[in-house]
Amino acid sequence: MNILIDSQLNESNRRRELYRGSVFVYSPSPSALKLCEFAKELVEEAFKPHDPRKIHENIAVEECVRILADLKPKFIHHPKSKEYIKSILAERGCDLEKTYFDVPRLRTAFPADYLASGIAYAFHPHRDTWYSAPLSQLNWWMPIYEIYSENSMAFHPRYWDESVANSSNTYNYYAWNLNSRQSASQHVKSDTREQPRPLRDLTPDPQVRVVAQAGGMMLFSAAQLHSTVPNTCGTVRFSIDFRTVHLDDVWSKSGARNIDSASTGTTMRDYIRATDYSHLPDEAVALYHDGTEVNFIPSPESAQTVKSPDRPASSRSL
Ligand SMILES: [Fe+2]
Repeated sequence: MNILIDSQLNESNRRRELYRGSVFVYSPSPSALKLCEFAKELVEEAFKPHDPRKIHENIAVEECVRILADLKPKFIHHPKSKEYIKSILAERGCDLEKTYFDVPRLRTAFPADYLASGIAYAFHPHRDTWYSAPLSQLNWWMPIYEIYSENSMAFHPRYWDESVANSSNTYNYYAWNLNSRQSASQHVKSDTREQPRPLRDLTPDPQVRVVAQAGGMMLFSAAQLHSTVPNTCGTVRFSIDFRTVHLDDVWSKSGARNIDSASTGTTMRDYIRATDYSHLPDEAVALYHDGTEVNFIPSPESAQTVKSPDRPASSRSL
């Protein structure tokens, strides 16, 4: 795995590298820092008077889940979040006319004995493509407070080109939207929702953990096998992530190689264009139809969906 730090590669070459398994890391940019500051304001307001990074020492887990169920959708759907993402993409050389993103998620990783399910799901090793993401999807991920190796996320690079027997063939995005995502906050102590997972023991090492500054951005392919690191450092991790696709790659169906993903449905309807927040052309989305689209159910988190306050955000990705 190549890790390119503050690379000057242009955007099309960067996509090519990402589809080959490279990871890009960028120092904090002005707009990334603004998005961080905005997220911190919301987080600190929600958890005041406590330090959000030590919230597990101060309030009961049920109270924490209640706060997150309100906080996360507020961040996801706030107009400022989208504006900052648009600026981040511009700062990173993206063609805004052809770059589509989905709404940003605010993630939390708590010490595992406190909360690691439901609305704060601790992800087992997975590829986002097991969750119906297209092979051209790129994941953007950044911490909003300082992080450590012990509360970060991990890549498992040997599996970039080694297939893993997995249950992604049981995962359909529309069925997931219908049945599971709306109830994430109910899974406080355990998580019984069926998620695609490896069907054999994996060798987690060697693993790569990128510890970036707050506001530092990591960019990787949706086909990377990655996981939540068990949080053993006693500090809650707060991070932001969002995903992008490039219109050219959507039309040409290019991207990373599919070695073991068999999920059905597609997340293509979730992405909105950076310039005007319009969705991908129907004809482009139709290239990804597999017969299950007759049961299409929009994501409860998608940009066009008005959320009710009792419908919490869940997690699809780290
Ligand atoms: Fe993920």
